[in-house]
Amino acid sequence: MSKKPIKNKVSSKRNVSKKIVKPLKKSVKKVSVKAGKKIVQEPIVMQPPRGMRDILPNEQEYWNRVRMVLDKEYPKYGFGRIDIPVLEYSNLFIRSIGKGTDLIDKEIYTFVTKGKDKVALRPEITAGVARAFIQHGMNVLPKPVKLFSIGPVYRYDRPQEGRYREHFQANFDIFGEEDSVLDAQLIQLAYRILGALGLKNVQFQVNSIGCPDCRKEYIDMLVSYFESKKKKLCKTCKARLKTNPLRILDCKEDKCVQVSANAPQTVDHLCNGCRDHFKSLLEYLDELELPYAINPQLVRGLDYYTRTVFEIWSTDEEGKKKSLGGGGRYDKLIESLGGEPTPAIGFALGIDRLVLEMKRIKAKSYENPKPRIFIAQLGNLAKKKSLKLFSDLERDGILIAESFGRGSLKSQLRTANRLGVEMTIIIGQKEALDETVIMKNMITGTQETVPQEKVLNAMKKILKSKPMIIKKKKINNI
Ligand code: HAM
Repeated sequence: MSKKPIKNKVSSKRNVSKKIVKPLKKSVKKVSVKAGKKIVQEPIVMQPPRGMRDILPNEQEYWNRVRMVLDKEYPKYGFGRIDIPVLEYSNLFIRSIGKGTDLIDKEIYTFVTKGKDKVALRPEITAGVARAFIQHGMNVLPKPVKLFSIGPVYRYDRPQEGRYREHFQANFDIFGEEDSVLDAQLIQLAYRILGALGLKNVQFQVNSIGCPDCRKEYIDMLVSYFESKKKKLCKTCKARLKTNPLRILDCKEDKCVQVSANAPQTVDHLCNGCRDHFKSLLEYLDELELPYAINPQLVRGLDYYTRTVFEIWSTDEEGKKKSLGGGGRYDKLIESLGGEPTPAIGFALGIDRLVLEMKRIKAKSYENPKPRIFIAQLGNLAKKKSLKLFSDLERDGILIAESFGRGSLKSQLRTANRLGVEMTIIIGQKEALDETVIMKNMITGTQETVPQEKVLNAMKKILKSKPMIIKKKKINNI
């Protein structure tokens, strides 16, 4: 994406719809003189920062479908919604996610405020939710406490399709229960959501990375294995040997993948408690008949995880895998942030990726209800009457389209036709004076004049009857 500044010039609507508007190339530096001083203003770049984008109305159908499904599913599983700031003190994230992770070392957006506070745009949602859980004393609530949140997340990563510096997550966290029945229920919820979105061809990858007790021994073993193969590792993984050896298992570089294939596996080195926990999770998943693959290389990129970790993958036509969501247990996080020991588990879905996947497989989107009536008007008095009529109809829950601009009657009727409405109410200069309206049936082309005070009831009657099937070809009488 080039970052060339362009002139701040608004194109006409007509241009926008008919042509692809090319950014103008020249930047304009604005120079002004104030109190004898020359002030040079930087040109405005007519695009958001790299890796961020607008989600335009024509894409919202997919986003709406995702939001609708989420809104329907989270209460069914006992979640309450929580909204938290996108900005938190930086050390909350550093302590939760951990130094040595890509998220903290490379991707977090941090800055110092005018009040000298060190803050960060959230690179994920769970740390903030955990902070809110402790701050608001939610540990006294009946357990488990289930919290759902949705919103933007910021990661300074190299942008590409499906990877943005601002992306959106739907985040589910459950506090206060250690039993793996909740791990299974959360995976079931993820299945339910993806199924409702039409995304059935996905793979659930699960693993257990143990608790701090068994993991310490495992990591020692892993480090000595990778030390013996150090020459074969990529540069980043050589560094990871010191900072975050677990992450080497997750490296996508061919040579590291080959070395990792023979590395000791977490599941073979779990303590009894962690092994039983993982075993019972798999039993629950089998009971629920939810397919999964055990992936011993799956470690996740955040330090707070313990025991269960999982990811949901989609595969495109070229065999490329993308993670649509992921999560796991973080039984020690609340305590490490200063709260009472509270086991927890959660996961997040990447909404941008869900939408991409829905488009790729041509899954159903949610179309906003279409207006069935159009109001066309001509002249100032007619416009006034139309505005009132619009408000009356809208108050009665009737969806109406209008074009209160200055267009001719002909062009307004063309718009009505394009929108595929069933009826058009026309108020011209004569009708405005007579206090009448013309009701035009857009399918048959018939029209009748009715008094203004009767139009509301007349419309309600017509709309109560079955929606008419509009065949565009047949509308040739405009
Ligand atoms: P995560 O795997 O880092 O987990 O992110 C969750 C999902 O967000 C990913 O599976 C992916 O679909 C999406 N995602 C991540 N980065 C990007 C990006 N740069 N552009 C577009 N989509 C992206 C977490 O964030 C954990 N906090 C999940 C969790 C909740 N664990 C416990 N509770």
